[in-house]
Amino acid sequence: MKRVAILISGSGSNMVKLVESMTGDHPGRAVLVASNDPEASGLAKAAAMGVPTAAVSHRPFGRDRAAFEAALLEPILAAKPDILCLAGFMRILTPDFTRHFEGRMLNIHPSLLPKYPGLHTHARALEAGDAEAGCTVHEVTAELDAGPILGQARVPVLMGDTADTLAARVLVEEHLLYPAVLRRYAAGDRTPVLA
Ligand code: GRF
Repeated sequence: MKRVAILISGSGSNMVKLVESMTGDHPGRAVLVASNDPEASGLAKAAAMGVPTAAVSHRPFGRDRAAFEAALLEPILAAKPDILCLAGFMRILTPDFTRHFEGRMLNIHPSLLPKYPGLHTHARALEAGDAEAGCTVHEVTAELDAGPILGQARVPVLMGDTADTLAARVLVEEHLLYPAVLRRYAAGDRTPVLA
């Protein structure tokens, strides 16, 4: 059984789907949900599902990323995770942090990587006049939003779409893709899930 820790920054809708998926013959179980924001509404959702939680605010650390990451690492390492999932986690992690989880850390990004790494992905896809958009689950490496792709799901861009309507359409696919990728990844299978 693989121990799975999940990092969130906000609503944690992807986290909820991941936790809900880890039942029965699924090879993973959620052992911790941690956030950089003690007010993240996802923390209460995790607690309601019986998953231990931890919160380490990044604010008191100011620009000292290393100190924040050292503090965040404490409850994560204490949970002894085999896999770390970033799910709506909005802080950039330094290579010092990611090296702890090299080859066992996933992230979901709301674009069809390698297109649109970074922020405001849906606005950028609309700006570019793309006919389709989507989401990507990838392994986290030292380079931002650039690790090996483990899954992608595509959605059409529709006439009149705004960043919000497109984000909502993509989010539905995120909630299907991430659990599918985690199940395969926890079983030791890195074959990409291409929805
Ligand atoms: C989602 O669009 C996800 O792709 C991005 O953060 C957004 C919110 O995720 N990483 P969640 O609802 O907090 O899971």
